[in-house]
Amino acid sequence: MNSKQSTVSKFGLDPGKMPRHVAIIMDGNGRWAQQKLMNRIKGHEHGVQTVREITRACRELEIPFLTLYAFSTENWQRPAHEVTALMNLLVRFLKSETGELVAKGIRLNAIGQLNRLPDKVRQTLDEAIRQTAHNKGLTLTLALSYGGRSELVQMARLLADKACRGEIDPRGIDEAVVADHLYTAGLPDPDILIRTSGEMRISNFLLWQIAYTELFVTPTFWPDFNRQELISILQSFQKRERRFGRVET
Ligand code: FPP
Repeated sequence: MNSKQSTVSKFGLDPGKMPRHVAIIMDGNGRWAQQKLMNRIKGHEHGVQTVREITRACRELEIPFLTLYAFSTENWQRPAHEVTALMNLLVRFLKSETGELVAKGIRLNAIGQLNRLPDKVRQTLDEAIRQTAHNKGLTLTLALSYGGRSELVQMARLLADKACRGEIDPRGIDEAVVADHLYTAGLPDPDILIRTSGEMRISNFLLWQIAYTELFVTPTFWPDFNRQELISILQSFQKRERRFGRVET
């Protein structure tokens, strides 16, 4: 038994049925804080600890790709002080975690309208991405100023521009070409999408990429989500039959 098999088996998981890509809509920070009569920002601060715990767990379980919805295009409409607090938290997270990401072989990646991020966030993000670029252990993708529809609009513009320049034949555009022009080019589609806090919504996340993804919604607020609950979801995932639209023969 190799190290991956033994770690995974320890948690009652089948090493042959592990997901390659887990995506998470981290929801419920605000309600978690309000329930405790705390400021919403405290919820985000505790949410960062969960980001740390879940990233470590995925690394240990040798899941190759983890994608976290950290800030949506719609989140810009939140009160300015909350947006600023989230941006500051992100900078602090990137500065404090880059050392561990490097040490644990985790590659940082980001998707979304990154040009809308404040300069400070952009610079810290670019630096963390640069320092972790050669890591092969886990690709941690942060969706920042991300929206699935704007990603599709951008893809359509890129392809239209290429067609106008004669670089691409419109009849040659197939699913693989579309996928190659999304922010997620090079990442496999998620096998699992988890949403915390019980809302049954996709909220503009990875609209193209989740066509055949297995969905898991848990009532747990993101700051209370933990490694044990992730493992329970992985156990349920391994019991599901994935048919991708086909029938069993
Ligand atoms: C949703 O909770 C969460 C967010 C909009 C932000 C998620 C951010 C973090 C977990 C912290 C920063 C991230 C990283 C990667 C360091 P909500 O505020 O919508 O909660 P509510 O629905 O209960 O109001």
